[in-house]
Amino acid sequence: MKKVNIKNFKKTLSKFSTGITVICIKNNNTIYGKTVNSFNSLSLNPPMVLFSLGNYSSSINKFLKTKFLSINILSNKQKKLSDNFASSIPKLENINFIEGKNKTAIIPNCIANLECKLIDKIKKGDHIIFVCEILELQSNDKLKPLVYFNSKYN
Ligand SMILES: Cc1cc2nc3c(=O)[nH]c(=O)nc-3n(C[C@H](O)[C@H](O)[C@H](O)COP(=O)(O)O)c2cc1C
Repeated sequence: MKKVNIKNFKKTLSKFSTGITVICIKNNNTIYGKTVNSFNSLSLNPPMVLFSLGNYSSSINKFLKTKFLSINILSNKQKKLSDNFASSIPKLENINFIEGKNKTAIIPNCIANLECKLIDKIKKGDHIIFVCEILELQSNDKLKPLVYFNSKYN
């Protein structure tokens, strides 16, 4: 075993395969989205999920203020969307967002979508854990997931 530093911490955690989500919020009718792989399930009853965002993110204050959000789980055909929403100024013009029941912006053609209510925010280290209750959801059995492993798409 080795002592932990940022380099070996990142490398070790990159051995944990994840899916990729894009999490979207609407603030004054402007949509903000972010590529996030720190997403996970939290509770079955009530149904809850969580994810974390860096407190240094340019749009963190918008995410902290939101009441509702969409979590869009990407398929293996949506790598470009993942790259787009990992950039600091994502392009929105070619995305035909669908409006959710709670006025969230939902990305079409994903392997799954969740519409959520933000119920808690917990500051830990340099990240903030967002705890969300699921209000609506859907999934598509015909698509395959976009998988992230070893700091690369697989
Ligand atoms: C595969 C992948 C997963 C990511 N997961 C997260 C995450 O879980 N939390 C996070 O805060 N940023 C994550 N990011 C980084 C953000 O998508 C974004 O690049 C970062 O917030 C910087 O942009 P900003 O400062 O404009 O917000 C991820 C990026 C990639 C490519």
